[in-house]
Parts: sequence; structure tokens; C-alpha cells
Amino acid sequence: MGNKISAIVLAAGMGTRMKSGLVKVMHPVAGVPMIQWPVAAAFASDVERCVLVVGHQQEKVRELFAGRGEVSFALQSEQLGTGHAVRCAMTELDPGADTVLILCGDTPLLEAQSIAGMLKAHRETKACITVMTAALANPFGYGRIVKDATGKVTAITEEKDATEKERLIDEVNAGVYCIDRAFLEKAIATIKNDNAQGEYYLTDVVRQAAQQGLACLSYKVADPREISGVNDRAQMAEAARVLRGRINRELMLSGVTMIDPEAVYIDRGVRIGRDSVVYPGATIEGNTVIGERCVIGQGSLIQNCSIADDVVVKAGSVLEDSKVGPEAAIGPMAHLRAGTELSAHVKIGNFVETKKAFMGEGSKASHLTYLGDATIGRDVNIGCGTITCNYDGVKKHKTVIEDGVFVGSDVQLVAPVTVGRNSLIAAGTTVTKDVPADSLAIARSPQVNKEGYMLRKK
Ligand code: UD1
Ligand code: CA
Repeated sequence: MGNKISAIVLAAGMGTRMKSGLVKVMHPVAGVPMIQWPVAAAFASDVERCVLVVGHQQEKVRELFAGRGEVSFALQSEQLGTGHAVRCAMTELDPGADTVLILCGDTPLLEAQSIAGMLKAHRETKACITVMTAALANPFGYGRIVKDATGKVTAITEEKDATEKERLIDEVNAGVYCIDRAFLEKAIATIKNDNAQGEYYLTDVVRQAAQQGLACLSYKVADPREISGVNDRAQMAEAARVLRGRINRELMLSGVTMIDPEAVYIDRGVRIGRDSVVYPGATIEGNTVIGERCVIGQGSLIQNCSIADDVVVKAGSVLEDSKVGPEAAIGPMAHLRAGTELSAHVKIGNFVETKKAFMGEGSKASHLTYLGDATIGRDVNIGCGTITCNYDGVKKHKTVIEDGVFVGSDVQLVAPVTVGRNSLIAAGTTVTKDVPADSLAIARSPQVNKEGYMLRKK
């Protein structure tokens, strides 16, 4: 055996306290399924391979990590306890690993530095088992760390099995362990389920090691919040708050201004350039990249967008799967739907909705407009109240508006239709046929003025 470290992450349980149709470890926390947090932390420390113990909705967990060669899976078809889960994973471990790191899929706050620190301590002390612990003001629900006079761990006792005296212990089991592989192989095969919950407890291997006189040490993390397990949705919200705090702090330290970081919701992996300013209530999700010197206004929602430098997104705008060029201005209360692509200096004003729409440089749609399935050239002005009538009830059709066109207010463009370059569409026109370049298109019923009409009515 080499000196490699393999990890086992326990993720087979349903998580009944979540009261959900979705398995606990797949619930998103700050933008990614909960399980991704501890797995990422493990790989960011010294871990080379990771076995995920899956059971409930295993296909969802497998799919999440599909194509990642360093992750493998072990099936635990019946959830008989954490010890049983580890037993199921033993055959999947890398043959070259001499140390096993065990983590739970429901502790998303655990940081890579803490894992690395524990692994280092484990190597230096040459302990058989190192258990991560924390001192909690309220240890309720966690396994308590029982120690002898010399400070060695002799047992971990679950809440339900603990004596009155043991319940007073404030040092708790984080559910994270480094264990000598050879010892674990033997010990895990012999644990029993003679306890209050009738489960095979992983923590029993600690008792065994102590009984055999093998060193079992604790590694206390400085910040006890890191070990918080998520068992219900209240704890999940609390964990998400902490993770968002970390994400926001990192962004602020890299040069992003947040007016009120407590009120900004940014997913893991979102990138924002320096000197950008994010206002309260902004939610930025998924695979989003935002450039430098942008302003992300109050209450805006941005999902999977690529936004260039110097863009202003005003309050209440929703941007989905769209691309925005430099110095563009959007909103307030605009809606860019999937497939929108705006070039440099484009302006999209209030109550404008776009979908699968391309707009060339400098074009503007300043108010109350729908642009769907449209290709719009450069320096086009779209007047207030313009509508692309892209749907005939069966199919979607395209509108093409070439460079330099001026579309007056209250114009309907019945697609498929093309407006040639530098044309003018008069206000109130319903465009039903193509307009050649450099033309005026006007379609209005002539106005009739009936003089004195109102006087006669009286
Ligand atoms: C466990 C520990 C406890 C510790 C706490 C830290 C045991 C016996 N207890 O308790 O000492 O303080 O974690 O959060 O280990 N799982 C499986 N298969 C199973 C059972 C559980 O994969 O058969 C997985 C769950 O999906 C979960 C993790 O193991 O991700 C922990 O299980 P959970 O039931 O939450 O354990 P706790 O009661 O919190
Ligand atoms: Ca738990």
C-alpha cells in the first residue's frame, strides 16, 4: 500500500427530516447540490479519489458526478447506519490508499483547510483514528466525544445512547474521520447494531480502537459552525447563509462592491470583475460571468448570463441565458429571456421583453416592447410599444430589421417579415409585408375629424 488518501462520502440516506421528495444531498445550497460542497472540499485537500455511498435516488447523485474519473460509487441499498455505509464502500477504495478519510454528504460548511489540517495532524501523530470535533454551545443531536484522562478518545456516544453525564459533554463528533485503512478493514466487518437506534454505527470503530490500545485522537476545528450538519430545511437555510457569506466576502476582497452583502444572493462559481457594484436583493445564479465596472441593480435576477464590462442592469430586471455586450444598459424592469444577445452600447429600457433576439451595436428599445425571434441590426431605434408578432398559434416566425431602421411607436411587425436598411416605419403601422431599404412604410386608416360632433351630442 502507498501513502495515498481515499475518501468515502456518505450520501445514501433519504434525509427524512427534510420532508421532501428529493434526497437530502441533492438539495441546492448556494447554487449547487449540497453534496458538491464536501466533495469539493475533500479534493481541495490531499484526497485523490472519492467513493460516494449512494442509495436513495442514487441515479441523481451518479449523474451529478458523471464523467469524473476520480469519483466512484458504492451502493448501500438499505440504510442500516453510517457503519454499514462505510462497509459497503470498502471494496471500492483505491488499493494504493493507506488512509481513509470519511465525510458526510450533509456537512456543506466543512472547509478544505480543516480537512488538510486534520490529515496533517493524523500523519504527524501516527494515530490509528483522528476524529474531527468541535465544541458546541448546544451539542444536542450530535455524538459526544468521550475521552480518558490523557485526552485520548475512548468512545463516541450518540445522543440517544448517552448517559446524563455524557450529554453534558460539549465536544461533539463532526462526522469526519481519518482512519488507518488496514485497521478499518478489520474493524468495520465486526461492528454490531446493538444500540438505541438498531443501526450499525461507524463511531463504534473508535471504541474498538481504544479497546485495542490504538491511538484515537481528536482534531478540534476552530470555527464550530464548519461542522454543522444539515438535517432539516432550517439548518439548510442557515448553512446557505454562511456559504453565501463566504462567496460574497471572496468577491469583495477581489474588488467587487456590495452595498449590503447580507442581502446579495450569489451562487458558487459566479464570476464578477473588479469595481462592479452589486445592490441589495440582487440574485446572481448558475454559470454567470459579469465584467468590470458593472452595476447590478436592486432586486435583479441574473441566471447563466455573460455580461461584458461597464454594463448597467437597473433595478428589477430579469436576465436569463443571455449575452450582453460592453456599455449596454438594461432596465429597470426589463426581461431578457433565453437566447438574447445584445451588442455594445445597446439600450433596453423599462418593460421591454426580448427572446432569441440579436441586437447590433448602439440599437435601442427604450420602452414597452416585445422582441422575440428577431435579428436587429446596428443603430436601430425601436419605438415605444413595438411588438414582434412572432407566433401564429402554431409556429414561431422571424423578424429581421436591418441597420439604421427607425421603428416608430406602436408598431406591430407580423413575422416572418424583413425591414430593409435605413427605412422608417411610421407610428401605429402594422407591418405585414417586407419593407425595401430606404423606404417609408405607413399603414394607418385615414383619420376623420367630425367637427362640432360633441356639441351636437349634448
Ligand atoms: C452522525 C454521527 C454523529 C455525528 C453526526 C455529525 C453516527 C452513528 N453518528 O449522526 O456522531 O455527530 O453524524 O453530523 O455516525 N448515511 C448513509 N447510510 C446510512 C446512514 C447514514 O449513507 O445508513 C449518510 C446520510 O445520508 C448522511 C450521513 O450518513 O449524509 C450522516 O447520517 P445521519 O443520519 O445524518 O447521522 P447523524 O444522526 O447526524
Ligand atoms: Ca446528520
